Amino acid sequence: MTRNRSNPRRGRVLAAALAAATLALSAPHAFAQDKVKVGLMLPYTGTFAALGNAITNGFKLAVAEQGGKLGGREIEYFTVDDESDPAKAPENANKLIKRDKVDVIVGTVHSGVAMALAKAARDNNSLLIIPNAGADEITGPLCAPNIFRTSFSNSQPGYAMGKVAAERGHKTAVTLTWNYAAGSQSTGGFKEAFEKGGGKVVKELTLPFPNVEFQAFLTEIAALKPDAVYVFFAGGGAVKFVKDYDAAGLKKSIPLYGPGFLTDGTLEAQGDSAQGLLTTLHYADQLDNPKNNAFRAAYKAAYKVEPDVYAMQGYDSGQLLAAGLKAVGGDVGKRDALIKAMQTAKIDSPRGPFTLSKANNPVQDFYLRRVEGKENKAIGIAIKNYADPAIGCKM
Ligand code: PHB
Repeated sequence: MTRNRSNPRRGRVLAAALAAATLALSAPHAFAQDKVKVGLMLPYTGTFAALGNAITNGFKLAVAEQGGKLGGREIEYFTVDDESDPAKAPENANKLIKRDKVDVIVGTVHSGVAMALAKAARDNNSLLIIPNAGADEITGPLCAPNIFRTSFSNSQPGYAMGKVAAERGHKTAVTLTWNYAAGSQSTGGFKEAFEKGGGKVVKELTLPFPNVEFQAFLTEIAALKPDAVYVFFAGGGAVKFVKDYDAAGLKKSIPLYGPGFLTDGTLEAQGDSAQGLLTTLHYADQLDNPKNNAFRAAYKAAYKVEPDVYAMQGYDSGQLLAAGLKAVGGDVGKRDALIKAMQTAKIDSPRGPFTLSKANNPVQDFYLRRVEGKENKAIGIAIKNYADPAIGCKM
């Protein structure tokens, strides 16, 4: 100390030498010093806001269970509200990719936004984990080694429900949905399986996303008198549709079916109107496996609410990233090894264990569920080990 003060030049030289030595020592492990930057691009406002929040909670729970570190590194979050607005998606994706320079993006819920996000991820070679949006294109022509999905493809739950509806002996059906990728692919999957099973979709009705003015459609359905109705709605829209269907008196006369999104995360608000509804999904509330029991208890303890399918998908996105980062000791620069570890991961999911298909999409069971009280209860498996067809995926 004294010597440095009496000889400032010598002190500076010493400090510089020390700094250089520290740098040299730490350089090969520079990655171990910083946090892994995770960009969350999700809807936090609008009809899908609850879905975005549940995914965020689920992801953070998975990270917390690893002691807040993945591959030995802490996580820093960057958050963008995508508003489920495809028009704003390229700009929102760039905020995370170019401005915040995140290491991985977790997003999103809405298929239209997800397609723009997947394009940005392809253009910039960004690591992307999709925790919900089911756009079939993402595991089709837009597929890429750096793009993963922990949820489903839109046509899958629809296809499962079409099979069930035909098996239940229905001959005619009307479909209704928002007019965008998720809606048309979901009803498309339903139609394919329903007609394969001997049924006929007699009318395909749509309204713009995220409109919830259902009255004219309910009047038309009442006039058409099909054997069954299949709809794709989620979040706030699903709450309103199920209540409106019941209030119009249709629930008693024409069975209402949908993918599980129709009744997931919504039962509190739907009340009696949802009781008894049958849906198909890759998750059900009380699946009796140790992972689901532990997940549900931990989620409830952390957030004071029951988890839903979106929370589960967020949780598994965290588990998938954890598997990748663990394999490379947190070094995101080891990109090939990171991707390989994610592609070959066996995820111990609350839905049941799953692996990924060639297009990085879960191969999983689709359950038939019935609403009982505040639960979507599994009453059977509609399709086992269902892998999406990945049509047009080259990688
Ligand atoms: C989608 O847009 O892909 C989507 C949105 C909400 C859901 C499911 C799929 O619940």
